[in-house]
Amino acid sequence: MNYQLPDCIVNLASELNSVTDVTNEIVSEVMVRAGLSEDALFPYNIFNHTGAESYGRRLLYESEKFRILLMTWDPGDFTAIHNHGETEWGGVYFFGNATHRLYETEYGNLKLSRKDIFEKGQTAAVCGDLTHMMGNSGKTGFMTLHIYGSNKNLNDSLNREKVFLPEHKVLATTNGPAFLNMAETLKTEEEFYDTYTDETLIDYFELIKPYYLRNNRYDVLKTISTFEKDINAYYR
Ligand SMILES: [Fe+2]
Repeated sequence: MNYQLPDCIVNLASELNSVTDVTNEIVSEVMVRAGLSEDALFPYNIFNHTGAESYGRRLLYESEKFRILLMTWDPGDFTAIHNHGETEWGGVYFFGNATHRLYETEYGNLKLSRKDIFEKGQTAAVCGDLTHMMGNSGKTGFMTLHIYGSNKNLNDSLNREKVFLPEHKVLATTNGPAFLNMAETLKTEEEFYDTYTDETLIDYFELIKPYYLRNNRYDVLKTISTFEKDINAYYR
């Protein structure tokens, strides 16, 4: 972070630093008041990122209490399914229309519970136990601004983020990134996990196929295709 930040981010950070007990309501109010400027943030974008990442992710600001990140979403970019560890508060500001999925655990299965489109100009709240996935199902790229914070120790909170990777039957722990096909070096822990409802996997695989196609990962696409054939045969 050796660059000059735009005024809207400097103001946003200083306002959040001045509050002792931040809540999601305060984050949302501060983000709206900050006058976040797409033009001012555009130079920090990471569009056209490499295949090692499944979306663009740039840390803009970090303090003891919170991080501000700019994410960029090329068409077909998606996160994996993930939560935010013990993050206590946070928010997302959308500069474009994002596809969003919410999940919950039911009888030991991870289950899709809600489908949303967040629209340009909207804000959304973030907390640690939110299990979700987001990305770009459209045809043009856009940016989002993310704040993750804790009134306790931020590093402790962020180091326990869970990332579900059904295509690899893995549940990983990371300290922030939720990339599809995440590099081993970004994982702090990894365990076997393969407990999803069929509806959840059908929806998830449909969303992530463009990323694996773009990166010529035919091994993963074959795993997805085998699942889809089995599902079709079972429900026929
Ligand atoms: Fe997230």
